[in-house]
Amino acid sequence: MNTFGTRLKFTSFGESHGKALGCVIDGIPAGIKFDENFLQNELELRKPGKNKFLSPRKENDEVEILSGVFQGYTTGTPISAVVFNKDARSKDYEELKDVFRLSHADFTYFYKYGIHDYRGGGRSSARESINKVIAGAIAAMLLKEFDIEVFSGICSIGTKNIDFKNIDFEFCKTSEIFCLDPNYEEEFKKELLNVKKAKDSIGASVYTCVKNVPIGLGEVLYDKLDSKLAHALMGINGVKAVEIGSGVKASHMRGSSYNDILKDKKFLSNNSGGILGGISNGSLIEIKTHFKPTPSIFIPQESMDKKGNNVRYILKGRHDPCIAIRGSVVVNAMVRFILADLLLLNASSRLDYLKKIYTF
Ligand SMILES: Cc1cc2nc3c(=O)[nH]c(=O)nc-3n(C[C@H](O)[C@H](O)[C@H](O)COP(=O)(O)O)c2cc1C
Repeated sequence: MNTFGTRLKFTSFGESHGKALGCVIDGIPAGIKFDENFLQNELELRKPGKNKFLSPRKENDEVEILSGVFQGYTTGTPISAVVFNKDARSKDYEELKDVFRLSHADFTYFYKYGIHDYRGGGRSSARESINKVIAGAIAAMLLKEFDIEVFSGICSIGTKNIDFKNIDFEFCKTSEIFCLDPNYEEEFKKELLNVKKAKDSIGASVYTCVKNVPIGLGEVLYDKLDSKLAHALMGINGVKAVEIGSGVKASHMRGSSYNDILKDKKFLSNNSGGILGGISNGSLIEIKTHFKPTPSIFIPQESMDKKGNNVRYILKGRHDPCIAIRGSVVVNAMVRFILADLLLLNASSRLDYLKKIYTF
């Protein structure tokens, strides 16, 4: 489906080479200062064509707000936003319109729907993630009222990992590849250039940290905070795994070393990644999101066409050598969206909260 969220929802529309992409965000309370510069800046972070480590497609990605904002504040009515496509080159895809691009969604979309928009992958293109970034930026305007901050950046490329000792979110914001550690940026860049030179692509991982989350976000049993995060993040194109706290490592540990000790009213470690029983426990929320390599590479490969013939193809088009780089902006947006949704839901979790709202 194209609608996401529970109390806060967004519905997205648009294709990679269609006229425009956009979304309608429903459930944002009235009275929030609407920061259009911040929203545009988030889209700038996701935008292609900015440097040699990203897809060269040149898009302005200028957002237009059509409703839900009056005199600089949200009105409590649906906020709708649109971004027009400017630099789609559909002819790059015409020659191979009957060939299934390996690892992309061409094969499954064709067999599911019987019709396939081959122009840049149509709806399956990550150009759609513009809508996720818009929804996440608007969610962040609500989170800002509660000082909840979300940061994401690249923690590994291929087999090269940062050591997590020198994470610098301010540096990350200015890094061309959103690298979290200044000591690793050059090495990561070199790896990316090597991959590009080889006409190949590479997988990478994103670390996310959320600060100032109150205790209590997450709805048991089926809308746990960790399951909501995994749902949102696995929904991003190319994401193949999500870890919370120690994640996969937890399955190698003993309870005596995994358990986060409670002392002097705080947790001394954070193997749980800030979530217990599906509910935020007041510690940092820590997530790792793992992206596969970009499907579109410029090395000849074997595939199949729509008639079932074996074919050997060489791609044209403009592609990211590593989708996690721009993907990290989308991860940040979706984490923001989930937290805003759960913050709103939590307002009705207790009678004393409700009484505070309805005391006249
Ligand atoms: C920000 C971002 C940019 C992407 N750019 C490309 C790209 O340039 N070329 C490509 O083949 N796939 C790209 N992808 C990945 C595909 O959209 C994705 O692999 C495809 O839709 C198949 O979905 P799946 O990988 O989730 O199975 C990108 C993904 C993200 C999140």
